[in-house]
Amino acid sequence: MTVLTYDTPEELASAAADRLAAALASAQAARGTASVVLTGGRTGTAVLAALRSAPLDWSALDVYWGDERFLPAGDPERNETQAREALLDHVPVSPDRVHAMAPSDGEFGDDPDAAAEAYAVLLAGVPTFDVCLLGVGEEGHTASIFPHSPAVLETARAVVAVRDCPKPPPTRVSLTLPRIRTAAEVWLMTTGEAKAEAVAAALAGASEQDIPAAGARGHRETIWFLDQKAASAR
Ligand code: 6PG
Repeated sequence: MTVLTYDTPEELASAAADRLAAALASAQAARGTASVVLTGGRTGTAVLAALRSAPLDWSALDVYWGDERFLPAGDPERNETQAREALLDHVPVSPDRVHAMAPSDGEFGDDPDAAAEAYAVLLAGVPTFDVCLLGVGEEGHTASIFPHSPAVLETARAVVAVRDCPKPPPTRVSLTLPRIRTAAEVWLMTTGEAKAEAVAAALAGASEQDIPAAGARGHRETIWFLDQKAASAR
């Protein structure tokens, strides 16, 4: 595991975007294609905005999400909407390679279990991801896997519906920890003092039931990107 610390959230976003562009370009050079899992949250969205000017072959990139707020299409609170505004609307990605999770007014209607199942079917043909980006919540959640929730105990399914989330909106769809761990690289990115205790606990080896972010690992590499404040309780 690698821990990288930056003075400010802006420096973190810029460094993570540079490293992401390099990682994806290297995957494209090796295999002709790359895949990335996007996250919601302020830090992750800032990284996406910083990635806009990266010299990537955008047409050879598959884009997935680690979690989604289960809301109507185009809702400003959807992670997809925020990622489109921050990055995807500004670069020539292939629309058919942008794999968003279903909205609550889409083909599965207001049924997050059906939306989760459909995403699991999509991912069944995707054995790994090059880089999985994740945020971290104040109580240690990552994606929409909250402490001591059914999602954190899930061992079989790749994608689950999440209800009664402590962070609004209450209904979400999320990759599970076993599916996150299929990624070659998992990058956990977080800033601010409010995250410091959760970060310290995760890095000290907390259980994933207590601190779900502690269970997010890549099979090749796990990198924590922290600003000074988020690193301050270590
Ligand atoms: C979401 C996110 C969530 C987020 C963290 C961190 O849908 O809410 O995917 O897991 O990444 O809560 O959010 P901040 O970076 O805004 O603190």
